[in-house]
Amino acid sequence: MMESAGTLSATVPRYEDLEIPAGDRGTAVSKAEAEFMHALVAGLKPRATLEVGMGYGCSAAFIISAARVPHYAMDPMQADYHHLGLKNLRKLGLDSHLRFFPDYSHTALPRLLSEGVKVDFAFIDGGHRFDDIFIDFYYADLILERGGHILLHDAWMRSTQTVASWVRRNKTGYEAVPTPLKNLILLRKTGEDVRAWNHFRGFATWKSLLSHSLNTLKRRIRGRLPA
Ligand SMILES: C[S@@+](CC[C@H](N)C(=O)[O-])C[C@H]1O[C@@H](n2cnc3c(N)ncnc32)[C@H](O)[C@@H]1O
Repeated sequence: MMESAGTLSATVPRYEDLEIPAGDRGTAVSKAEAEFMHALVAGLKPRATLEVGMGYGCSAAFIISAARVPHYAMDPMQADYHHLGLKNLRKLGLDSHLRFFPDYSHTALPRLLSEGVKVDFAFIDGGHRFDDIFIDFYYADLILERGGHILLHDAWMRSTQTVASWVRRNKTGYEAVPTPLKNLILLRKTGEDVRAWNHFRGFATWKSLLSHSLNTLKRRIRGRLPA
């Protein structure tokens, strides 16, 4: 089972202090998600953390402030987000813990792996297509210590649910940890991958078929769907 998720400490940033453009309420993690992540990471006491897709730096601010250990983050499109990820972390005095790569995860993650970096917590919120998330999980797993956790954002998306379904049905040495927030999927690495060389189980899932369509429509109507 997961260690205690901890409680919000005095070090928790105020979500309202983060600068997020008024016209873009769909990119950053929500306040509830950010505070959940802070409590989770504080309880895990990680030695290093990782994040794919920094965006406005909301998730980074709540992860870094919870642990104050090296936080590896990557994002090739900070310019599209007015460099607010970096600016917000600087404003909150959290940037000294940041090891930032202005790069795609498919470039930065293999680099971290080859450098022997190890983390105890990884948050995946970068590219949102199935193959993006799958590659991010694949490398995050190789970088993750045993006992570490991987948190997937946007569980409403079929791409995210399908990656989670692959983990549940195929990957050994992982267990799903329930979270109170339905848009997050938390996975804990309990052991090594002991699959046979020819192992394969189908992982198609109907889960989120409805919520994906409804959420896509809702976001399109509200103009909250990123390009
Ligand atoms: C939804 S936003 C992340 C929001 C962030 N978690 C927050 O709370 O502010 C997704 C981010 O992933 C970045 N991104 C997209 N594809 C990526 C990739 N392949 N590798 C790394 N980052 C990527 C985008 O530039 C964007 O900043």
